[in-house]
Amino acid sequence: MPESTEGKTPGIRITRNGPYIVTGGVPLARQRIVCDAEGERVGWREGESYPVGETYALCRCGHTGTPPFCDGTHAKIGFDGPETASRVPYLERADWIEGGDIRLSDAPGFCSHARFCVRGDGIWDLVERSDDPEARKTALEMAANCNSGRLVVWDRSTGEPIEPAFEPSIGVVDEPDGRPGPLWVRGGIPVISADGTAYEVRNRMALCRCGRSGNRPFCDGAHREL
Ligand code: FES
Repeated sequence: MPESTEGKTPGIRITRNGPYIVTGGVPLARQRIVCDAEGERVGWREGESYPVGETYALCRCGHTGTPPFCDGTHAKIGFDGPETASRVPYLERADWIEGGDIRLSDAPGFCSHARFCVRGDGIWDLVERSDDPEARKTALEMAANCNSGRLVVWDRSTGEPIEPAFEPSIGVVDEPDGRPGPLWVRGGIPVISADGTAYEVRNRMALCRCGRSGNRPFCDGAHREL
């Protein structure tokens, strides 16, 4: 039997060559990437909330006239949006970088190229130097800002991930220059493929909303070429 996300439980169901169907009244708000004076990406600012009902449809083709919601244009343009992403779980794909009392897991196949991690010498160098409190603090910030969840910092003493606490919610990402970015899915919302199977449930993931990703349903940064 296909798995279902219908009802009060937060969930996202991908439709074949169509939108994401969001159920469970998941809150939806704009999320803008914030830069510092040097233009480095350093955080997020929440924008206006969208009024949503219990169930709503978010555009996956990138051609809607009513973003971020689907207006049916996908059918008129013959959107062809097969899901191409690997189903191998995150931890089986991750490389590890060891630091002081933290370690970093890095699975590039999830990357949406939000570029929080490349400030200075990058998060990888900071984790290796994390005996330095400032390097440790910046590495934790960078990992927490990684909307795709490619990067996760772990506490070496407990073996637990140091994850930002998110309520189930969806952010409609704006790049600093105003271009539309992905859908930032937070708080462990189950995502069900058009074939009825479930993707790995994760605290953070970035879903494509421009229709151009080569890693659908995940964002691979292709919107930045628009
Ligand atoms: S998926 Fe329906 S308009 Fe884009």
